[in-house]
Amino acid sequence: MRVAITGATGFVGRHVVAALESDEPPFRIRAIVRDRSRASSELPPTVVDVREADVTRPETLRGAFDGMDAVVHLVAVPTERHGSFTRVNAEGTRAVVAEAERAGVTRFVHLSAIGASPDSPYPFLRTKGEGQAAVEASRIPHVVLRPSILFGPGDDFFPRLRFSLRFPVVPLPGGGNARFQPLHVADLARAVRAALRGPMTGTYEIGGPDPATYRQMLEETMRAYRKKRLTMPLPVPLMKPAAFLFERTMADPPVTVPQLDLLAVDNTPQPNAIDQVFGIHPRPFLGGGLSYLGQRSEGA
Ligand SMILES: NC(=O)c1ccc[n+]([C@@H]2O[C@H](COP(=O)([O-])OP(=O)(O)OC[C@H]3O[C@@H](n4cnc5c(N)ncnc54)[C@H](OP(=O)(O)O)[C@@H]3O)[C@@H](O)[C@H]2O)c1
Repeated sequence: MRVAITGATGFVGRHVVAALESDEPPFRIRAIVRDRSRASSELPPTVVDVREADVTRPETLRGAFDGMDAVVHLVAVPTERHGSFTRVNAEGTRAVVAEAERAGVTRFVHLSAIGASPDSPYPFLRTKGEGQAAVEASRIPHVVLRPSILFGPGDDFFPRLRFSLRFPVVPLPGGGNARFQPLHVADLARAVRAALRGPMTGTYEIGGPDPATYRQMLEETMRAYRKKRLTMPLPVPLMKPAAFLFERTMADPPVTVPQLDLLAVDNTPQPNAIDQVFGIHPRPFLGGGLSYLGQRSEGA
């Protein structure tokens, strides 16, 4: 099967490439990237079919999926520091769907997120919902995956939590009781692989085996970095001035104001399709799932 992957250089993209390359029969991969020279250091040398395209410039997508059986669409921006939510997550996905339809691909796998909805009050989730709606309205047989938060080597979220461990007392947004269901990125990549092989079509929420509150995710982060801190529940509005200051003064802030809101909202799959639909028994998060973190040297 010939598969084009948008966002192949990202955290999820690199794991999806690895999962598809190691499968039998093998997939033939085309990586769609923004910058070919930067991509060469992020993709394995075995990926030789590389095309440049920016989803916010639909003319650059023209022909990107020609000759492909399937498209895996992974591009999105989680903050507006690297692009506009609307232009990338919503309009960019519409442009990718349109080009996939023009190219005549026969399967489309899209990464959405739990909570994504065109009616969401949160701009990130609203634009992810608009992108998801474009995929669901397309005539291409598709699988939409709505994962909870992802963890695994190369993730961005848990190393950022480490920033909060610089302080003797760590705030818990909204009390830290919002529930997540972290999924290992390698299990997500296996779900993408299963979605490509089929036969399922439709929209599925997926997560790991255990729900975990924000407080528990912070405790796992402390365990991984071997740091112990006191915690203090704080209403999200009281944390926003600090996040605003980080955004204004830091090139790479640990958290943005829109992200803070999402840390206090439940994010668990209803129901969890990972096992029933995709046949995957995901690896646990609680009790040491983040052990890879201590072996890396992210700043903080
Ligand atoms: N990570 C999670 O916990 C999580 C949870 C739920 C859902 N998801 C979804 O999973 C998908 C992948 O997320 P990720 O964590 O892998 O994100 P990521 O590491 O930030 O990767 C995003 C990818 O999108 C590319 N990209 C950004 N803007 C682009 C544009 N205008 N045109 C073309 N490519 C562009 C980036 O390319 P460059 O290398 O050129 O920047 C990168 O390859 C997203 O749809 C995300 O919403 C992620």
